[in-house]
Amino acid sequence: MNTLDSRSLRNALGEFATGVAIVTTQVGDDAPIGITVNSFSSVSLDPPLVLWCLDKGSDRLEAFEKCEGFTINILAAAQMDLSNRLSRSGQPHLDGIPVDNGVNGCPYLSEALATFECDVHARHDAGDHIIMVGRVKSFQQPSAESPLIYHRGGYCALAT
Ligand SMILES: Cc1cc2nc3c(=O)[nH]c(=O)nc-3n(C[C@H](O)[C@H](O)[C@H](O)COP(=O)(O)O)c2cc1C
Repeated sequence: MNTLDSRSLRNALGEFATGVAIVTTQVGDDAPIGITVNSFSSVSLDPPLVLWCLDKGSDRLEAFEKCEGFTINILAAAQMDLSNRLSRSGQPHLDGIPVDNGVNGCPYLSEALATFECDVHARHDAGDHIIMVGRVKSFQQPSAESPLIYHRGGYCALAT
């Protein structure tokens, strides 16, 4: 039984400052979608593996259960509006957002700091989330802008 207070645990976990990414995917002929995440992590260089965690309650669950690939797009500080937009329930679509086609069949955000185009390597059941592990097929690092940072449930800037 879980005896920990979820709200307090979430607050304490929020002390870990992270970057912010949008994970994009496309399933068959469906419109491409994206989801804002801060659970991204690098895992392995050989083979090249990365992960992120998907809430089983997300309205994007079905798409990410079916997809064969996904792309991690690391956001710049100037992309806060995009982060907010793709964290809204029922609004996963990328209409009007500049994208290019990736080698894994998924669109990637043209203006991201870095993108990692992955095939799905594994899905691991983990409590109320699914750990999505991707094998990187291609990556780009087109921009040297400052990253978007997330800490204590809000955005903040990097101290310089
Ligand atoms: C900064 C930030 C980080 C987030 N990180 C994650 C994450 O790692 N995994 C996840 O499933 N949802 C994460 N979310 C929430 C999803 O973006 C959001 O729940 C999803 O897009 C759809 O909303 P729904 O869960 O109400 O259907 C994050 C949201 C924000 C704003």
